[in-house]
Amino acid sequence: MESQKKREGFSSGLAVFFATLSSAVGLGNIWKFPYLIGSNGGGAFLLLYLVCILFVGLPIMISEFYIGRKTRKNVIGAITELKGSTGWKSIGVLGIFAAYLILFFYSSVAGWVYSYVFKALKGDFKAVNADTVKIVFSNTTIGPMPPILWQIVVIAVVSIIIILGVEKGIERVTKTLMPLLFALIIICDIRAITLPGASDGFKFLFNVDFSKLTKDAVLVALGLSFFKLSLGMGTMVTYSSYFTEDNNLIKTSFKVALSDTLVSLLAGIAIFPAVFSFGMQPEAGPGLLFMTIPLVFSQIPFGSFLLVAFFLLSSIAATTAMMSMLEVPIAYYTEEKGITRKKAVIINAIIIGVVGILATLSADSHSLFGNIKVFGKGFFDLFDYISSNILMPLGGLLIALFVGYKNSKRDVQLQLSNKGILNNVAIINIYYFILRYITPLLLLIIFLSSTGIVKF
Ligand code: PHE
Repeated sequence: MESQKKREGFSSGLAVFFATLSSAVGLGNIWKFPYLIGSNGGGAFLLLYLVCILFVGLPIMISEFYIGRKTRKNVIGAITELKGSTGWKSIGVLGIFAAYLILFFYSSVAGWVYSYVFKALKGDFKAVNADTVKIVFSNTTIGPMPPILWQIVVIAVVSIIIILGVEKGIERVTKTLMPLLFALIIICDIRAITLPGASDGFKFLFNVDFSKLTKDAVLVALGLSFFKLSLGMGTMVTYSSYFTEDNNLIKTSFKVALSDTLVSLLAGIAIFPAVFSFGMQPEAGPGLLFMTIPLVFSQIPFGSFLLVAFFLLSSIAATTAMMSMLEVPIAYYTEEKGITRKKAVIINAIIIGVVGILATLSADSHSLFGNIKVFGKGFFDLFDYISSNILMPLGGLLIALFVGYKNSKRDVQLQLSNKGILNNVAIINIYYFILRYITPLLLLIIFLSSTGIVKF
């Protein structure tokens, strides 16, 4: 018999926690979540989001953990081992496809973030005004050369960490960088809350306004709970295949979801008090991150230091989230196709770099491919749309059905209770009920509405 190399894994519960959290924490916490809370009714939206986490996010995360740790395989290998017929295997195939699509455009945005760390260090934002921040941002994104080069730097950094492996790469890097990210965000928060007029920022974030909870807000919260926790595309299956045998999977899912929400709130506290104290209006998306923040931070005492801290923490978030995306195909190629880790990473890095250029050069309408439209969208938006609105909710739905109906309840119970060692029958029963009857329904609604098939 061929001697099998021991499969790599995380070395401790702490490593499991940091690695999983590092996947959830990403650019989403910084440019998406804080803004969405503020514009959808503050505290009321937060409550709604937590309900969505409970009924959609956590059940799917726990199901992915079950699949990953039980089989200790990559996403396609795992479904095959659990007797998924060809149809169910599409969970893995769609997941890997989604991972690529996200990597194509995420690496591009991460490149802008990296470049802003250097711009902040060089002092490029010292004397900016509303017009010049726009120029700096266009110079960063239009290209062709600077954004492509930065994208290559990002892909190279992520690739090197992934080549180092699960323990020496993912575990070591996330154990160092996650605490650093927390420290940086707290520094930014302390400065932000001591600014004059900071209370308006708090009002924007936390004011409970139930009248803003429209059906759109419900759909946004559902979709967000899902994207935020990196679900529906095999990331959590892959990472949990490296978990320790004694890890309490249900506890880990709660800890990760709560900590991720905390990071989003801390990011909001770092951003909005400053924005309001300068009488500016918060914006959504890239505008908030790349224009409003440099403009506002450049005007406050210690602002240039803060800008470096802020973009550094954003780069950490982007890098560690990307590591978890790349690990999905890498685990597949190394385990199912027998390719060495190094070779698999290099080939994938080249593919992501080459196709990623399409995203990079279509992010701005003035870029080289800015006018090319496929299904009415530029490449950048198309990759984002297909992955977040179609593949992830669809993947989540299939995972809920696969674990809820295709796997035996006994197998699920054994895995989630660590073969009976944990005394958690009641919570497993609650999870199982939600997974079978509530999660699929809610996911179906997200899927139909986000793809526009049905208008609610
Ligand atoms: N959760 C990450 C974020 O909020 C995004 C992500 C999606 C990461 C899918 C991995 C997989 O930015």
